Amino acid sequence: MVIATNQELNKAMTTINKIAVVSGASRGIGAATAKLLGAQGYAVCINYLHNRIAADEVVKHITVRGGRAVAYQADVSCESQVVDLFNFVDKELGAITHLVNNVGILLPQAKLIDMDAQRINTILSTNVTSYFICCREALKRMQTGGAIVNVSSGAARSGSPNEYIDYAASKGAIDTLTKGLSLEVAAQGIRVNGVRPGFIHTDIHADGGEPNRITRLSPQIPLQRGGSPKEVATAIAWLLSDEASYVTGTIIDVTGGK
Ligand SMILES: NC(=O)c1ccc[n+]([C@@H]2O[C@H](COP(=O)([O-])OP(=O)(O)OC[C@H]3O[C@@H](n4cnc5c(N)ncnc54)[C@H](OP(=O)(O)O)[C@@H]3O)[C@@H](O)[C@H]2O)c1
Repeated sequence: MVIATNQELNKAMTTINKIAVVSGASRGIGAATAKLLGAQGYAVCINYLHNRIAADEVVKHITVRGGRAVAYQADVSCESQVVDLFNFVDKELGAITHLVNNVGILLPQAKLIDMDAQRINTILSTNVTSYFICCREALKRMQTGGAIVNVSSGAARSGSPNEYIDYAASKGAIDTLTKGLSLEVAAQGIRVNGVRPGFIHTDIHADGGEPNRITRLSPQIPLQRGGSPKEVATAIAWLLSDEASYVTGTIIDVTGGK
């Protein structure tokens, strides 16, 4: 068994009341974020859709190091399941103080002329509606302030022509949500920020039909490589932290300069 270091335990003591929900945290950027928050002393709820084994691995990674974590299966595109998720967190960990809206899906690359309404609505309900509803449930509980980070994408700026304009547009909506909500709740001491990852080594590219997409595009990335989930998690954790206490309505690009 891995024992927590003194440094980790000290950090845990100072952040003992921080309770975070990370949506889509069984894999990729969400898993890296949950692990980092767990190491920083947050109690973390790892939300996932299907992959119980991966979610349990993230929980184990945190708890064997002396942290506190639970996993909860919920399809966050479904409003009633989001409500159940937050009620579960109330019971198991307490009232949420920090939210990471991280879920995001891609469908196989296509031009707009070949997209039907069912596809577009699937993207929008998972990538946009879920963020609104998770924010709503978090805000109801953030009576003494809090922080939210919405995971957008560099696609919000590029538009992703010939690949997935639907996905890119969903991320544009998230940037607007981040801006608007940050102004709506700033006076309540709740900060709302975003990150725009780009070209991060996760499973999502295979879902888009091109597992090696980052290899193809690396020469066009100023830093000449894809990023790691941890490099995005670090930006998310900073935005959530008290070190970013005067930062709200801000979106950080984690895109290797692209
Ligand atoms: N990777 C990149 O290059 C990149 C670039 C820009 C932006 N982003 C954004 O970063 C975020 C994370 O992406 P990623 O690449 O880490 O994704 P990923 O590796 O494909 O992981 C997706 C995660 O979301 C969960 N999930 C999917 N649909 C869900 C739903 N309806 N309800 C609850 N959980 C759901 C999955 O759970 P299961 O394991 O149970 O399936 C998994 O934990 C997304 O918002 C994405 O758009 C990624």
